[in-house]
Amino acid sequence: MRILGIESSCDETAVAIYDTKEGLLAHALHSQVAMHAEYGGVVPELASRDHIRKAIGLIEKAMAESQSSAKDITGIAYTAGPGLSGALLVGAMVGRSIGFAWNIPTVAVHHMEGHLLAPMLEPNPPAYPFVALLVSGGHTLLIDVAKFGDYKILGESVDDAVGEAFDKTAKLLGLGYPGGAALAALAEQGDPSRFHFPRPMINRVGLEFSFSGLKTFAANTIHTEQLSQSYDQQTRADIARAFQDAAVETLVIKCRRALHLTHRKTVVVAGGVSANKALQTALQAMLEKENGQVYFPRHEFCTDNGAMIAYAGSLHLLAGERSTLAVKIYPRWELTT
Ligand code: KG4
Ligand code: ZN
Repeated sequence: MRILGIESSCDETAVAIYDTKEGLLAHALHSQVAMHAEYGGVVPELASRDHIRKAIGLIEKAMAESQSSAKDITGIAYTAGPGLSGALLVGAMVGRSIGFAWNIPTVAVHHMEGHLLAPMLEPNPPAYPFVALLVSGGHTLLIDVAKFGDYKILGESVDDAVGEAFDKTAKLLGLGYPGGAALAALAEQGDPSRFHFPRPMINRVGLEFSFSGLKTFAANTIHTEQLSQSYDQQTRADIARAFQDAAVETLVIKCRRALHLTHRKTVVVAGGVSANKALQTALQAMLEKENGQVYFPRHEFCTDNGAMIAYAGSLHLLAGERSTLAVKIYPRWELTT
């Protein structure tokens, strides 16, 4: 099967061509980050309109790059949720319409399932079962993955997602939006001993996360330091470092707890925050001690992309799933339903 995958759930229009025999053949992406930056966050209506402008051009690009013509494509996968309604509708309508025109099956894909399967596109993919840590701008999830399609949520954030906490702290540090990667870069120059931020909920049993307290602690520290004479670049870096250390350690502690609870030895990390080098290093160290292994997608597939949707869609299509002509999207969609 050769699948065209379409992702448009938030602020990236992304497409890919995945062949079940030959692997990933092409992928193309347009990021709307620069367009939303001046508003300090994603503006849903602008996002939808931009997806409309970019989707077809990107599909043509990926088709050309993979040397595919219409007759080579045997299925289409599109993100149907969770995400912004208008943005999701664009990808779903484009995918469903092309499927109708070319008379080929289409399937709706869950965005977070796409993320959790992204490491499967790498040369040395993880084997089932595993624990997945999904960390993005909208989600912080620990999932027990017995096999493809068999997911049990072990824990999630009761308030802000970890990426959201990175972004809000970054904004207060004057790093723009979304500032997760910029905060990580600034943290590299930070002194880890200057500030100590709390590790939320680690003393409580269970696998739930909470990041709004950490975000507030960071905000209070920034405001206090801003009032003093010494709020300089080094102070900002030290705060970034303290925030990142607290967020990373919290994720690692909960991840280790999930491994012990499920008796798994493998962790798969995905979603935008999985691009964070400090998180990758800390998880690698933890898994070495636990005699286990950790897998990440390649850097460009940590954040939103079309390849993960094409791959996840190929598994659903092979399992015989089909979406109907009545296009449906699911802005709020539980991974387990
Ligand atoms: O998965 P993604 O592209 O979109 C969502 O589905 O949310 O994740 C985006 C999130 C943003 O919060 C962004 O700041 C964060 O991932 N992010 C990072 C890094 N790169 C992206 N956070 C921390 N460190 C990074 N290097
Ligand atoms: Zn995402």
